[in-house]
Amino acid sequence: MTKHLTVVDHPLIQHKLTIMRDKTTPSNQFRQLLREISHLLAYEVTRDLPLTTKSIDTPMLTIDAPTVEGKKLALVSILRAGNGLLDGMLDLIPSARVGFVGLYRDEETLKPVKYYFKVPSEIDKRLVIAVDPMLATGNSSAAAIDMLKEAGAKNIVFLCLLAAPEGVARMKAAHPDVPIVTASLDDCLNENGYIMPGLGDAGDRIFGTQ
Ligand code: URA
Repeated sequence: MTKHLTVVDHPLIQHKLTIMRDKTTPSNQFRQLLREISHLLAYEVTRDLPLTTKSIDTPMLTIDAPTVEGKKLALVSILRAGNGLLDGMLDLIPSARVGFVGLYRDEETLKPVKYYFKVPSEIDKRLVIAVDPMLATGNSSAAAIDMLKEAGAKNIVFLCLLAAPEGVARMKAAHPDVPIVTASLDDCLNENGYIMPGLGDAGDRIFGTQ
């Protein structure tokens, strides 16, 4: 993947995203739509996945047929909203290994602090797809990528549902080697760091907390 930012503006994604943005859409439907969109985003983000072959017997003959090296992949969910994208990704790539990064923002320093970090072994040999629905200021996303690199990850893609230009710029400055795939590049952030027009707090909308 060579482009730094890819916006996957497929009509089905845009249609489903519109329903997700609508504030009257309830959590169960929101979760289902996020799952469906993650299937479509997974298609794009795995476009360059390496293939290997395995020998199979069709009813007609034996062939070496292409197969994805699923064990060479790690999906890393940035908690907690990342889990909403993770479920759909796992539907399509069930053999992928899974990791988690948990961060909170220190109220005094305003810096992201790690409270949980667990990634699959041999992370340096895997394509790591880090998932978080909202790329807003980019502070926590950039910090999560820092941690993945410290753990040895070398080949990372960041997958989100919505991105703000501010977050894209922050990620490009901190991690120009990490391509971003998103369903929409929204307009801007508001004074509270929310994406505009956005969809509100993704975690609250996925899990029905508020
Ligand atoms: N996180 C969210 O959940 N929503 C935003 O708009 C920004 C960050």
